[in-house]
Amino acid sequence: MGQDFSGRQAKDVIFVGALVAFLCIAFSFFFVTAVSLNATETQEMPEEIVINNKVYETDRKGSVWFSHSDHAENYVDTCDGCHHEYKDGENVWEEGQFVKKCFTCHDASKSEGSVKKLNIAYHKNCKGCHKKLAKQGGTDAPYKQCTDCHEKR
Ligand code: HEC
Ligand code: HEC
Ligand code: HEC
Ligand code: HEC
Repeated sequence: MGQDFSGRQAKDVIFVGALVAFLCIAFSFFFVTAVSLNATETQEMPEEIVINNKVYETDRKGSVWFSHSDHAENYVDTCDGCHHEYKDGENVWEEGQFVKKCFTCHDASKSEGSVKKLNIAYHKNCKGCHKKLAKQGGTDAPYKQCTDCHEKR
C-alpha cells in the first residue's frame, strides 16, 4: 500500500492533533465556566418545592411539599411576602435577587431575638398566613393538621 508518511507529514499530523486537543480543552474550560457563572446569576424559580432540611438536631417530622409557583403567582401577591433580607428593620430584598436558603439566617436550634429559629420561622410564615386566611373565610389552606403539610412517616 502506497501511503508512506515523510517525517515532515508526520510532524504536521502531530501538530494538528495537539492543536485540536488544545482547542477541545480550552473550549470545555470556557463552557464549564460560562455554565457555572450562569447558574449563580440566574437562579431557577422552582415550580414545586419539597422542604426537607438536614440541619435540625432531631428530624422529627416528614418533608413538606408545596406549590411554589401557585403560591407566588396565585396565592400571594409578591415574592417578598416570603423572601426577605432586612436592613435597618426594612426588607430590602427585591425580586430577581439571589434567594438564600431560610437556614442561612434562621438557626435550626435557637432563636436570636426577632430572628426566630428555623422551624418557628417556617411555621410562622406558612401556618401564619393560612390561619389568617381561614379566619377570613373562603380558603382551606392547611394549618391545623400536621400531616396536611408534613408527609406521613
Ligand atoms: C402549613 C404547613 C405546616 C403545618 C400545618 C405544620 N408544619 Fe411543621 N413545618 C413546616 C415546614 C415548611 C417546616 C420546615 C421543614 C424543614 O425545614 O425540613 C416544618 C418544620 C417542622 C419541624 C422541624 C423539622 C423536623 O422535621 O423536625 C417540626 C418538629 C414540626 N414542623 C412540627 C410540626 C407539628 C407537630 C405540626 C402539627 C401541630 C406541624 N409541624 C404542622 C410546615 C408545616
Ligand atoms: C409562600 C412563600 C413564597 C413565595 C410567595 C415565594 N417563595 Fe420562593 N421560596 C419559598 C421557599 C420556602 C423556598 C425554599 C427556601 C428554603 O426552604 O430554604 C423558596 C425558594 C426560592 C428560590 C430558590 C431556589 C433554590 O434553588 O434555592 C427562588 C429563586 C425563589 N424562591 C424565587 C421566588 C420568586 C421570584 C418569587 C415571586 C415570584 C417567590 N419565590 C415567591 C417560598 C416562597
Ligand atoms: C438574609 C437573612 C434571612 C433569610 C434568608 C430569611 N430570613 Fe426570615 N428573617 C430574617 C430577619 C433578620 C428577621 C427579623 C426581622 C425583624 O427583626 O423584624 C426575619 C424574620 C422572619 C419572620 C418574622 C415575620 C416576618 O416576616 O418578618 C418569618 C416568619 C421569617 N423570617 C421566615 C423566613 C422564611 C420562611 C425564610 C425562607 C423562605 C426566611 N425567613 C429567610 C432574616 C432572614
Ligand atoms: C401569604 C399567604 C401564604 C403563605 C405565606 C403560605 N401559603 Fe400556602 N396557601 C396559601 C393559599 C391562599 C392557599 C390556597 C388555599 C385554597 O386553595 O383555598 C395555600 C395552599 C397551600 C397548600 C394546599 C395545596 C395547594 O397548593 O393549594 C399547602 C400544602 C400549602 N399552602 C403549604 C404552604 C407552605 C409549606 C408554606 C410555607 C413555606 C405556605 N403554604 C405559605 C397562602 C399562603
